[in-house]
Amino acid sequence: MNREIVLTGNELKGVMPLRSETLPLAHLKSLERKGFGNASVFVFLNSYKPAEIAAGYLFNLMKEKKNPVVGLATGGTFEYFYDYVSQNYKNNDCTFKNVSTFNLDEYVGIAKDNPNSYHHYIDSRFYSRIDIKRENAFMPDGMAKDLQAEADIYDKRIASKGGIDLQFLGIGTNGHIGFNEPGTSFDSATHVAKLSESTVKDNSRFFKGSKVPESALTMGMSTIFSAKKIVVIATGKQKNGILRKIQGCGVTEEVPATILKMHHDVTFLLDSEAAHGLSVE
Ligand code: GLP
Repeated sequence: MNREIVLTGNELKGVMPLRSETLPLAHLKSLERKGFGNASVFVFLNSYKPAEIAAGYLFNLMKEKKNPVVGLATGGTFEYFYDYVSQNYKNNDCTFKNVSTFNLDEYVGIAKDNPNSYHHYIDSRFYSRIDIKRENAFMPDGMAKDLQAEADIYDKRIASKGGIDLQFLGIGTNGHIGFNEPGTSFDSATHVAKLSESTVKDNSRFFKGSKVPESALTMGMSTIFSAKKIVVIATGKQKNGILRKIQGCGVTEEVPATILKMHHDVTFLLDSEAAHGLSVE
């Protein structure tokens, strides 16, 4: 029989530093861990809540750690997250002055000022609206002459900062994380990835008629897995199929996001459309 678990204020301590009125507790439900390995899975009726809760994890880290290192995702799912964080970090007594960020991925062959580049996305939606020091905001350069060298340097930079404390992730409809498409080795470091047909199709909605690049630089599976904590956001009915698949299958390179079942600290934040029909015991 299905049952829902409503978290209490105590259980939320350390997760949610925002004002209590921003969180209608009755709307926060937790799925049992069934099918998600070690991960915690929370489902919200309101599709904005996952991003707001995710922001809470970020604000907590910024308060707790002197020089936090944060892994950033892009894509449609994270648009509201960046709006929310930009608008609320100061109210939460946070500053990005000591924060370092590493973006997950960037298309190959698209200039930084191209509106379709992830450079442009993160710059316009986030960096230009917060007090981060630009020299601490890192992205793979998809225009680099030697892409593999760029990938190698990226992993070294992450390591030199002490590794990623908190990695944010979205999920592709085919289970990709970053641009690690089905079949990518779990051992992979940052690398050049060929985009699958389904990803090109999914992301064509952003390109408005211009051609979606065929490849991207992406943090590898092992790079992502090395993060100390990972927070995944998935919202909308288009993510329902892949979430059901993740719950229903084992850990397999054919569904990259299943690697998350093995990580010691992963939280999935879903809305009810994305979570529809996930089984709860
Ligand atoms: C994109 C990006 C990912 C993103 C995911 C989901 O292709 N490479 O970093 O998290 O796929 O995208 P969206 O949020 O637009 O559904």
